[in-house]
Amino acid sequence: MVNTKVDLCGITLDNPVMAASGTFGYGYEFAELYDINMLGTFSFKGTTLEPRFGNPTPRIAECREGLINSIGLQNPGVDKVIEEELPKLAKCLHKKVMANIGGFSVSEYVEVSRRLDGCEQVGWLEINVSCPNVHGGGIAFGTDAAAAAEVVAAVREVATKPVIVKLSPNVTDIVSIARACEKAGADGISLINTMLGMRIDLKTKRPIVANTMGGFSGPAVFPVALRMVYQVFESVDIPVVGIGGVSSAEDVIEMMLAGATAVQVGAANLVNPYVCREIVEDLPAVMNKYGIDDLSSIIGGAHNG
Ligand code: SIN
Repeated sequence: MVNTKVDLCGITLDNPVMAASGTFGYGYEFAELYDINMLGTFSFKGTTLEPRFGNPTPRIAECREGLINSIGLQNPGVDKVIEEELPKLAKCLHKKVMANIGGFSVSEYVEVSRRLDGCEQVGWLEINVSCPNVHGGGIAFGTDAAAAAEVVAAVREVATKPVIVKLSPNVTDIVSIARACEKAGADGISLINTMLGMRIDLKTKRPIVANTMGGFSGPAVFPVALRMVYQVFESVDIPVVGIGGVSSAEDVIEMMLAGATAVQVGAANLVNPYVCREIVEDLPAVMNKYGIDDLSSIIGGAHNG
């Protein structure tokens, strides 16, 4: 009998497998397909203070080994999330959920965090300073260590729950940003968000995505994400959540060896909505194959010796 439990900032997860924000809605949509309580948990769609319609369409471009999205933080706004989405989720998820929070100013991040922090279902606040698809928000904070730290410190002041900051790979020095966030009071780091990319339609000779560029994710980014998780794990003393191109139980174990305490599955949910269930089901056999009894014992294992 293997042990798949991990501790993420003081909350025990049955397993480290989480669905990533923006690929799992508010959870109840996937609960129509399978019992989502079998997951460690998931991070819900990035939520802002006001409702957002999102970016013009087309918002998606297919790529080899992944896809580009430019959704633009479409969401119903924090009040509707609390009044309508979370009660629907409560009917099908009987564990804590991660709240993903977007913003265009420090005060917006603070206000959305304050409201979601007050929700019993919310276990962690995931502060998204890395959305590449909006102007003047998201990544504008996540590509500058001081700006990212300012957001974290301000949210930390009002939050009672663990604050996890979601970082962008579109930077030259991920370590300095992670360290600044830890110093500002972050309880954990999640990474990576999507990589800025684009595609051009040969028939129209114009960018496929209306916003010209968007965030690239999918299996192709896995080695980049793994490298950044490895680097950040070495540089901070807070838990790391690994995200980027994960689509199998083997990928989860590789991320954990690099230093991830939990692992989010993103784009793969859009290709196969059952993928998180399959990964959780496959984990024990893959652990047995590689002689792993206790998943938490392998976190950062690739750094030893
Ligand atoms: C989006 O809504 O544009 C995607 C969210 C993100 O990349 O953080």
